[in-house]
This record gives sequence, C-alpha cells and structure tokens, in this order.
Amino acid sequence: MEVVRLGVIGLGNMGKGHIRYIVNGEVPGAKLTAVSDIAEAGRQWAKDHAGEGVSIYADPYALLDSGKVDGVLITTPHYSHPELAIACFQRGLHVMVEKPAGVYTKQVREMNEAFAKTDVKFSMMYNQRTNPLYRKLKDLVDSGELGEIRRTNWIITTWYRSQSYYDSGTWRATWEGEGGGVLLNQDPHQLDLWQWTINMMPKRVRAFCYFGKHRDIEVEDDVTAFVEYENGATGVFVTTTGETPGTNRLEIIGDRGKIVIEDDKLTFWRLRVSEREFNATYKGGFGQPECWRCDVPVVGENSNHKGIMRNWTNAILHGEELIAPGEEGIKGLMLSNAMLLSTWIDNWVELPIDEELYYTLLQERIQKSRSRKGN
Ligand SMILES: NC(=O)c1ccc[n+]([C@@H]2O[C@H](COP(=O)([O-])OP(=O)(O)OC[C@H]3O[C@@H](n4cnc5c(N)ncnc54)[C@H](O)[C@@H]3O)[C@@H](O)[C@H]2O)c1
Repeated sequence: MEVVRLGVIGLGNMGKGHIRYIVNGEVPGAKLTAVSDIAEAGRQWAKDHAGEGVSIYADPYALLDSGKVDGVLITTPHYSHPELAIACFQRGLHVMVEKPAGVYTKQVREMNEAFAKTDVKFSMMYNQRTNPLYRKLKDLVDSGELGEIRRTNWIITTWYRSQSYYDSGTWRATWEGEGGGVLLNQDPHQLDLWQWTINMMPKRVRAFCYFGKHRDIEVEDDVTAFVEYENGATGVFVTTTGETPGTNRLEIIGDRGKIVIEDDKLTFWRLRVSEREFNATYKGGFGQPECWRCDVPVVGENSNHKGIMRNWTNAILHGEELIAPGEEGIKGLMLSNAMLLSTWIDNWVELPIDEELYYTLLQERIQKSRSRKGN
C-alpha cells in the first residue's frame, strides 16, 4: 500500500480540525476519501471543505462498507467510539480513535478484544504523548535518573468551563450523552500521561468527586483522588472545570530527586546520592542529600494531532512503532472509572475495577439523565 485511503466519522469540532490539515497535505501518505456524519450540518460542511471526490455518507456503516477506505478516524462523541472501532476491526480497517477510548472499561475491553483478532494498526489520539515536556519526563524515568517512584501529584485545574459552554450542546455533561464530566471530557490526556510517563498504574484508588458543584450539570466537575501503587508509592490527582486561574502542575518524586512540570518548563531537583543511600550512611542527625536544581532543556515542538496521525499513517505504510497504541486507551479510562466508582460506593476501589458494577451504576445514572428526559 502506498497511500492510506482515509475515512473520517464525525464532522464536528474535532473531525473538521483533523480534515483541514489532512486535505492540506500535512499527513504524507494519507488521502481523505470518505466522510460521514449523521447530521446534515456536518455533511454540508464536508461538501464545502472536504475537497473533490470525497464520498459523503449519513450512515457511518455505509462508509465502512464502501470499499473506499483503508483506515478510519473516529471523531464522534465518546459512547460510540468502541462500537465504531469494533465495526472497523470486523472489516479489517485500520483505526484511529479520538480520546477517550470510550465511557466505561467493559466496552473498551471488548474493543481491545476485537482488535486482538486483527493485524490492523490501532491508535488513540493521545496528542500529548508527542509533547516534548512529557517525553522528557518519561525519558528521565525510563533511564533511571529519577530512581524509584515514590509520589506523584497532579493538579490540573486549567480546564475552566462556563455554564454557557455546557449549555452549548445537549449531549454535554450528561450521563446519557457524555458519560462523565471533567474526567471523561477534559482529563483523558492527563490521566494517560500520569501512568504512561512513569510506567505504573495504581493498585487502588480512593476518590471524592463532586457532581454539578460549580455548574448546573449532572456529572463531576470537581475531583480529588488519592492513589496507591504496588511499590508503596502514593499519588494525588486534583481537577476541576470550576476554578480560574487554574494550575497545571505535575510533580513526580523519586528516590533520586524530584521533577516538576509547570508553566511549560521541566525542573529536576537532582539528588547527588539517592535518598535511600543517604539515609543508610548519614550519621549527622539533621541533614539532607546534596541537591542540584537543573532546568532541563526541552527541545522541539509538540507535533500534536498531526504527529499522532503521521505516526499512525507511517505505522500502516512502513511499520513504524505506534506512539499511542489504541489498546492502551483503557488505562486512562480505568483511572477515571475508578475515581467515579470510588465516589459512588464511598470506598476504596481496587484496579482493575469491577467493570460490571461500574456499568450497572452508570446505567442507573443514565436512566435518570436529564437529556433522556429532554430537560
Ligand atoms: N484530542 C483532542 O485534543 C480532543 C479535543 C476535543 C475533543 N476531542 C474528542 O473528539 C470527539 C468529538 O468531539 P467534538 O468536540 O468534535 O464533538 P462534536 O459534538 O463537535 O462533533 C461530533 C460529531 O459527530 C457526529 N456523530 C455523532 N454520532 C455519530 C455517528 N454514529 N456517526 C457519524 N457521525 C456521528 C455528530 O453529528 C457531530 O457532528 C470526542 O470524543 C472528544 O472528546 C478530542
């Protein structure tokens, strides 16, 4: 194959954004051949902007069965991601899924199982994995510079959203339409990076989610979670859409120092000897290991969405290794599901979560969802 014939399903904000740079030739090897949206407005936009010869479908399955695509970019609302991805896998089509992987881990696990039966390339649109800041953090962790992880803290409150944002779409911030709030919509990138950069998922989670605390919405808009890892490390994740000015500060403490990412800078407070070694040998009472503050140069730009699309296209055409393998989407989702479940049952939640229980409790909320009642 010399060119990936690309279909895009879902022509809203993100679908349009992706299409603009693809038709502009910014993803070498990818050619837009078909698009789909159930809404007339999306299809009309495609007529005006997708270019000559691009087939336009109301029914996404007609696109999948058209024989005109080799790979599909899914940019529909969250619930439909796994269903559409599975339909692609069944037809031997390559898949790129927008974040989040889905709404609940049961459906995403089924998506991963369907993928495992294929030999197509499956990627998630985790466009912060191309951010040099987080790549450098991962590099410092992977190379052992930071030592064994002891604590992770992420305050991510730069997601301020007004009531008018929530009122702009009937599916937004409802259990039925979106399946969650700040954890599902705004935080998937951070929840992915939180585990990807340190190669560790927590073993259990205790969280406190507040629902409609700052806005007239039914889902969570304020969360504080405490997690424990297998090696005894702990972590805290704090997020909200109701505060401004917000903070975006990731702090990872290891045996050999501390890394802070804030204000687009990465600072490494590097211990000259590991804390463990210092403690084992130091006899002076009060005292600390020698510490050097290093402003670590972070080189390069974030290639972002284009970078992930280029990588996936190159994976299909040339076997390039995927930056964001699709089956890893379940990890960040597992974290957000665990935080909600912990709040609902008012207790600790072990990972992997009880996905049947999560599904049942989510259904209860969907039954009472405002969008279902048409309010
Ligand atoms: N990676 C990122 O940086 C990023 C940023 C924002 C949003 N997103 C994600 O992108 C996805 C889409 O978000 P959006 O803001 O574009 O939403 P949107 O509401 O603007 O657009 C969704 C579109 O999908 C269409 N649609 C819904 N169901 C469909 C179906 N079954 N078949 C075909 N079309 C269908 C709708 O008619 C609509 O045009 C979400 O999962 C969101 O979380 C990702």
